[in-house]
Amino acid sequence: MSINSILKQRASTRAFIDKPLSTGQLQEIFTSAQLSVSNCNVQPWQVMVVSGDTRIQLKQAFMRAIMSGNNPNPDFDWTPKYQNEHRQRQFGAANALYGSVGIAREDKQARMQSMARNWGFFDAPHVAFFCMEKYLGIMGAVDLGVYAQTLSLIMQEQGIASCMQGALGQFPDPAREILELPDELGILFGMSFGYADPDAPVNKTRTKRADLAAAVKFYN
Ligand SMILES: Cc1cc2nc3c(=O)[nH]c(=O)nc-3n(C[C@H](O)[C@H](O)[C@H](O)COP(=O)(O)O)c2cc1C
Repeated sequence: MSINSILKQRASTRAFIDKPLSTGQLQEIFTSAQLSVSNCNVQPWQVMVVSGDTRIQLKQAFMRAIMSGNNPNPDFDWTPKYQNEHRQRQFGAANALYGSVGIAREDKQARMQSMARNWGFFDAPHVAFFCMEKYLGIMGAVDLGVYAQTLSLIMQEQGIASCMQGALGQFPDPAREILELPDELGILFGMSFGYADPDAPVNKTRTKRADLAAAVKFYN
């Protein structure tokens, strides 16, 4: 399959069937992703792949954390207040998502419930947390972003769906405790993955991209 067709097929998936990948599949996918590029080849990603009983335990702990009403306390400060066309695109993505499941713009409670599904990993059988040492800052974040995209395309090639989730970096404490992460390691974001539920309306969500001219300038 060409990279182009993989890119065209991939879309963030937010409903999964209960069919875990085998240990062999997980090993193969994450072995391939090790070929991802990084600045000076430092390979700063530390990836925690959570499945089975630990995933259930973590989901319950996340639910308690978000129900407690505490403010997010991410390890890294990466929540921008989007402006101008970025804000419009953010609205566009939210409208596409909520529109696919029939949630009205003014229905705050339904939107919050839909948002909360992030911390239940959208019922995916697996979730990966992309961690790096806290001192690394923006360069480490670039490398983790490249790694995550590499991973998602490798998965897509094998028919495995995923959703990257900044939400999974917002309340790091339950994961820190259950996964026994050392203090110097921070969670930047995460990704739920598995086989897509083909019947779930939320998986019909599609987003658009700006025209080439809005993103790329060519110079001679
Ligand atoms: C770094 C990053 C963080 C994201 N965080 C979330 C998230 O917390 N929850 C979610 O449902 N989608 C999240 N997404 C998915 C984006 O909303 C999605 O990629 C975007 O709307 C484009 O849609 P597409 O992936 O279907 O092409 C994230 C994507 C990226 C790259």
